[in-house]
Amino acid sequence: MNKKSIRDIQWPGKRAVVRVDFNVPIEHGVIGDDTRIRSAVPTIQYLVDHGASVVLMSHLGRPKNTVVESLRLKPIATHLAELLKQPVTAIPDVAGPNALSAAKALSAGQILMLENTRFDAREEANDPSLAKEYAALGDVYVNDAFGAAHRAHASTAGIAAYLPAVAGLLMERELEALAGTLANPERPFITIIGGAKISDKIGVIENLLSKVDALLIGGGMANTFLLAQGYAMGDSLVETASLDLAKRMIDLAAARGTKLLLPTDAVVADAFSPTANTMVVAVTDVKPGWRILDIGPATRAVYAAQVAAAKTVIWNGPMGVFEMPAFAEGTRAVAQALADSSAKSIVGGGDSVAAIEQMGLAERVSHISTGGGASLELLEGRVLPGVDALNNR
Ligand code: 3PG
Repeated sequence: MNKKSIRDIQWPGKRAVVRVDFNVPIEHGVIGDDTRIRSAVPTIQYLVDHGASVVLMSHLGRPKNTVVESLRLKPIATHLAELLKQPVTAIPDVAGPNALSAAKALSAGQILMLENTRFDAREEANDPSLAKEYAALGDVYVNDAFGAAHRAHASTAGIAAYLPAVAGLLMERELEALAGTLANPERPFITIIGGAKISDKIGVIENLLSKVDALLIGGGMANTFLLAQGYAMGDSLVETASLDLAKRMIDLAAARGTKLLLPTDAVVADAFSPTANTMVVAVTDVKPGWRILDIGPATRAVYAAQVAAAKTVIWNGPMGVFEMPAFAEGTRAVAQALADSSAKSIVGGGDSVAAIEQMGLAERVSHISTGGGASLELLEGRVLPGVDALNNR
């Protein structure tokens, strides 16, 4: 990574202003999945252990520039304190004089957490006046919020203009896993792309076609590719507006000599329901009244064999409607293949991460990204504003 990190700073006596992404599912103050909070612990612990005091900031949800009681960060500070086994003081201020006096009162090793950055209208506007107020709270800015690095907000990018700005350990790990792997993959390098819509992933597919040895497609988006090849898709989800895009990707893959694999069989259902009637058919044989909801067993075997032969695998997006057990086997087969493989395996994006965690296989892959939108934008080859703003080595 060509960006400075917290390891490049002499911390004793310094105050770190640390942007984390604690945007976690939370209901009535009860946190659902705390992965993002746990993932930030190494950075916070490093700072504490190296004699810094720490001011944490994060957004939570989309409060739209106003205070929303259910999106206060206090319950997250309480949970973080349990993980760190030390107090974390939460204050109801995003920035301003109270935050400044609380920050100045910190001794080495103490931790303060500011209120939800998005309660202040200046945050998403990347208003320099707020960025300066954040910067006044410390000596060095640390961005560990990989999940929010695709946002050019005051706490993710603007603040970096006013303080030395370095990456946290999670940010570093994410960039290495995603950007580093894309730049320098061990081959064969394959990616598996799924999810409902081509239109959401077109930038990713286009960028990856020039980098990978094979691109494997599954999920609802495969239907549009299959339709573009002239197969009837029955009642399956298809994006007719993206047919030309699908054709262009098929041509691009052929021109580049990249293997583009599509499903050859599918699990079809007579309704979008967990109790629908189902059967396995060839993709050439999808009848009216039936819809594709998962990849079939022959496709699963081919995709698993591709994973087994690869040295690097990136997976983004489920192969079917994995939330319903009848249509989860395709996604499970991919997750299992990644877990069984000795390749460098990276899972990026919200749904595939949820799937592999639900299947209990998360521990067996090399890297699970904490970024949804951010990891997609990296896979599209875009520069993330929150990364761009950090100091180069
Ligand atoms: C995420 O959950 O992807 C990040 O925290 C960013 O949240 P946002 O999409 O509301 O900016």
